[in-house]
Amino acid sequence: MADDGRKRTDGTGVVVATPESIARAARRLREGELVAFPTETVYGLGADATDEDAVAAVYAAKGRPASNPLIIHVADLDATRELAPFDERAEALATAFWPGPLTLILPRAARCAIAGRACAGRDTVAVRVPDNHVALALIRVAGRPVAGPSANLSGRPSPTTARHVYESLGDAVPTILDGGSCAVGIESTILDLTGDEPLLLRPGGASVEAVEELIGPVGRPQGAGEATPTSPGRAESHYAPNLPVRLGATHADPDEALLAFGPVVPGGAAKTLNLSTAGDVVEAAVNLFDMLLRLDTPEFRRIAVMPVPETGMGRAVNDRLRRAAAPRPASRLAAAPCR
Ligand code: TXA
Ligand code: MG
Repeated sequence: MADDGRKRTDGTGVVVATPESIARAARRLREGELVAFPTETVYGLGADATDEDAVAAVYAAKGRPASNPLIIHVADLDATRELAPFDERAEALATAFWPGPLTLILPRAARCAIAGRACAGRDTVAVRVPDNHVALALIRVAGRPVAGPSANLSGRPSPTTARHVYESLGDAVPTILDGGSCAVGIESTILDLTGDEPLLLRPGGASVEAVEELIGPVGRPQGAGEATPTSPGRAESHYAPNLPVRLGATHADPDEALLAFGPVVPGGAAKTLNLSTAGDVVEAAVNLFDMLLRLDTPEFRRIAVMPVPETGMGRAVNDRLRRAAAPRPASRLAAAPCR
């Protein structure tokens, strides 16, 4: 097959990100096609955020409920001002953290051009400026805000390589820009600034302590599992591999795969991958989804995971692991998601 810049000869849609392939991808994005792209956190499944049909295609490709809104990626703070009014807190945070792994939930501006579907019909909008040159080039060349959830089937581990995107979404994505492995490896921190009290909807790549230094205390949403209407993606089971997950493992059974952490690792597992032999939580975040996906094969009965300290980035890692281990909805168990 000739390389038309969309399908590589292997038929996966993965193309190495170059100025030329980014320009082609940007043109296709403007024409309403989906483009998967790297960010510093995880790969995103991009669509022109102003195009209702393109946004609908994102939900369809992921199997995502239409009630779960998308993050809008923009190239810089000025582009965001057209979408949402920035109060002092938002201004301070955006200036300090962008480009970077912090998503702000803000009220939608009256003249906001974002498709209603991308915000799931809400009067709020989630925005961030990604810290990745391929993502920024794609947004700038397309000249559009890019709606981009993580580029995986809904409920499954997030992709940190172009290959992961193809393995999760297959031919539903005609163009997957390959920008290598994601530097942070875990999704953005999500902060809701629509009320008087800022609320942490998802721990992630940006430090909550650093956020609190700038704007004061940040609240946590009420309710077990935070499956609140405020952020529908907070449903308890998420990031789940096909295999069951056992947390807090201090030993491993012979039919288990072990996701280890730190220098001292129990023997006996069928296979072991170590999130960080040095015991570094930042390195653990980088490796988390890739290692979960690599251990998720039918030759094992279960994935056992060693404890990860609840400090710094460890909080975001543990949040993902708890959701990966949470009871799965019956619908998802029955529907054996593609591998
Ligand atoms: O790092 C990231 O955030 C990655 C990269 C691609 O940017 N994106 C990502 O998107 O993780 P997604 O769709 O997998 O997760 C976005 C979360 C969902 O839990 C969604 O419910 C929440 O953001 N969200 C989006 N818009 C919202 C809004 N207006 N109000 C409350 N929550 C919102
Ligand atoms: Mg996601």
